[in-house]
Amino acid sequence: MRHVFRVSCLSIVASLAAGPALSQGNLNVYCSVQAEWCALIANEFQKHAGVKVAITQKGSGETIAQIKAEAANPKSDVWFGGTGDPHLQAAEDNLTDSYKSPALPSLHAWAQKQAADSGYRTVGIYAGALGFGYNTELIAKKKIAPPACWADLLKPPFKGEIQMANPNSSGTAYVAIATLVQVMGEDKAFDFLKAMHANINAYTRSGTAPMKAVARGETAVSISFVHDGVTEALASFPVKTATPCEGTGYEIGSISIIKGARNMANARKFVDWALSPAAQQLGAQAKQFQVPSNKDTPVPAEAPKFADMKLIDYDFAKYGRTAERKRLIARWDTEIGALAK
Ligand code: G6P
Repeated sequence: MRHVFRVSCLSIVASLAAGPALSQGNLNVYCSVQAEWCALIANEFQKHAGVKVAITQKGSGETIAQIKAEAANPKSDVWFGGTGDPHLQAAEDNLTDSYKSPALPSLHAWAQKQAADSGYRTVGIYAGALGFGYNTELIAKKKIAPPACWADLLKPPFKGEIQMANPNSSGTAYVAIATLVQVMGEDKAFDFLKAMHANINAYTRSGTAPMKAVARGETAVSISFVHDGVTEALASFPVKTATPCEGTGYEIGSISIIKGARNMANARKFVDWALSPAAQQLGAQAKQFQVPSNKDTPVPAEAPKFADMKLIDYDFAKYGRTAERKRLIARWDTEIGALAK
């Protein structure tokens, strides 16, 4: 089921009352972070620039598929957020446009590298680490030790207790697969995914769905970005997170301007704004706790600390390549996605 929403009439009216007249045209944004943050950026950019913003929220894999399908007649101007690998693929596939924002020098090296790797067709806006979410009450009730390592996910007590997303639609799931390949080597990673299949109860469309299922007690464990667990814990759900002992990967959430954007001047204005500390603080305001890419944006106290994790040196250039991403997802489809559930 697709979760598509437009900024509500009410919120547009609210912005009109609060901000300048909407005389500066339109901007259409595909947004791959959670809905609350998408709505906030729409409202705040409207106030900031007097531009009328329409937002469509969907996952990273779904968004690149849509941009590709619309390439001859682009319907959107900017793609905000979502994992970096499909943004790099969009750059390679000539679906996005190069733009060097004057904000680039203010960004952390990892965000600037993302830009350089793509010929300046995308740039990092945040970083977030991959790990596990678990429901503390369910785990205690079932007397299972919380997962601490990838290897734990193969243990029999986790049978039918784990959720992850489907890498076709979700960038989170692709980061998980690419991480396992980098941690274990490709064949061992696919052996692991096949063995873990027995413990999986669903492969969801959206990357955040497994963590939300953990929060609601529908599954004991998820493979998720750990900052998504902080959001649920702050909403008083019995959720904790861990990052795997063997090492884990991370995302460079990115922003790209869509090739042939009808509102190109506004798209560039939006990218400059999205890279500013004022805009980047909206993530924490929407209770989404990635590490912001601008060196001057305060890192939210709630953001999981990278220094406490065993992070791998994720090879973004390699795993963001079109051929590699397509090949790994096709292998997952054949060897795991096709298995009965
Ligand atoms: C959530 C996370 C983001 C991530 C996104 C990917 O919103 O908070 O950090 O980039 O999911 O979504 P997807 O559905 O593509 O896995």
